[in-house]
Amino acid sequence: TTLFRSINSLISQIYRYLCLKHNYIIFIMEERNRTLGEFIIEHQNSFQYSTGELSRIINSIRLAAKVVNYKVNKAGLVDIVGAAGEQNIQGEDQQKLDVYANEVFIQTLINREIVCGIASEENDDFITVAGSDNSHNNKYVVLMDPLDGSSNIDVNVSVGTIFSVFRRITPVGTPVTIEDFLQPGVNQVAAGYVIYGTSTMLVYTTGHGVNGFTLNPAIGTFYLSHPDMKYSEDGKIYSINEGNYVHFPQGVKDYIKYCQLEEGDRPYTSRYIGSLVSDFHRNMIKGGIYLYPTSSKAPNGKLRLLYECNPMAFIAEQAGGKASDGYKRIMEIQPTELHQRVPFFCGSKNMVEKAEEFMAKAK
Ligand code: AHG
Ligand code: MN
Ligand code: MN
Repeated sequence: TTLFRSINSLISQIYRYLCLKHNYIIFIMEERNRTLGEFIIEHQNSFQYSTGELSRIINSIRLAAKVVNYKVNKAGLVDIVGAAGEQNIQGEDQQKLDVYANEVFIQTLINREIVCGIASEENDDFITVAGSDNSHNNKYVVLMDPLDGSSNIDVNVSVGTIFSVFRRITPVGTPVTIEDFLQPGVNQVAAGYVIYGTSTMLVYTTGHGVNGFTLNPAIGTFYLSHPDMKYSEDGKIYSINEGNYVHFPQGVKDYIKYCQLEEGDRPYTSRYIGSLVSDFHRNMIKGGIYLYPTSSKAPNGKLRLLYECNPMAFIAEQAGGKASDGYKRIMEIQPTELHQRVPFFCGSKNMVEKAEEFMAKAK
């Protein structure tokens, strides 16, 4: 047996050496890892209502993400960088890629006839999807931020797409109404984001943990690279646009000073990309907190409850983290408007709780 073990170990060492030398290792990893397509099929039965519709929605998002990824990667080469010349309902300049990503995601979902309605950051009102037979028979609505952090495109910094999926509450067979979109985050059946970064990833949850898939751009396939993603309970990164410091509520100012204090494992590191998806993704992997509080300039904060905060909150909680508006759980807020803004405190559980403590104290 000893001889057999030594031969075996020698063979595997030669094999590893050859793999590394010839770059086969990547190929082998991918052979071992499941693809997103395989993962979706395997997990279809764990959905509460497993009609396959939700799987088809995730599949469509996967497809649209690849199309947008292709375009984002070429930004700078083709005439796609810069402003589209119009503003969205929130008075922000729409970037050309914002408009492009919006169209790709909407058309992909509409063409596959799997949703009954779509709401997007880039559209003033929600879109009713009747289906080709005009039956309004589909059961899910999708809410999305097609391109998050879009001001970063021109400077070649990571951007993302955020999505949130709900079951409609109005009866099947009728056109969707605003009520289908104004549901609290606790009703979400799926949520996720795509990060177009140094590599492109799709990260999502259907309420059974969070899984991350990395795109191999050469063959256009997402592979499960980050199974069961988890926030550490504590972290050392705080992410906030400190340029707004003087306008922040006292609780946030106090928390920032706490983060900077020389004590125990502090001072924490400050990291802020200005692209929610990227800041969130880094903090989930490394442990940290993201804050976009109210300020005297933005009395309700900046981020949108329905297609930015709710989906990120669902992912955060599924990864063992927390998301609040400084006082209460994001996912329990009853929305009143499609483009409603809320303050957002999200990340490692103990860090969010600490920030909430400062908020409560300063109230
Ligand atoms: P969007 O590009 O979809 O409008 O979102 C930008 C958001 C978010 O991604 C980011 O965290 C935040 O705006 C940055 O805002 P500030 O520049 O005010 O820090
Ligand atoms: Mn955004
Ligand atoms: Mn956006």
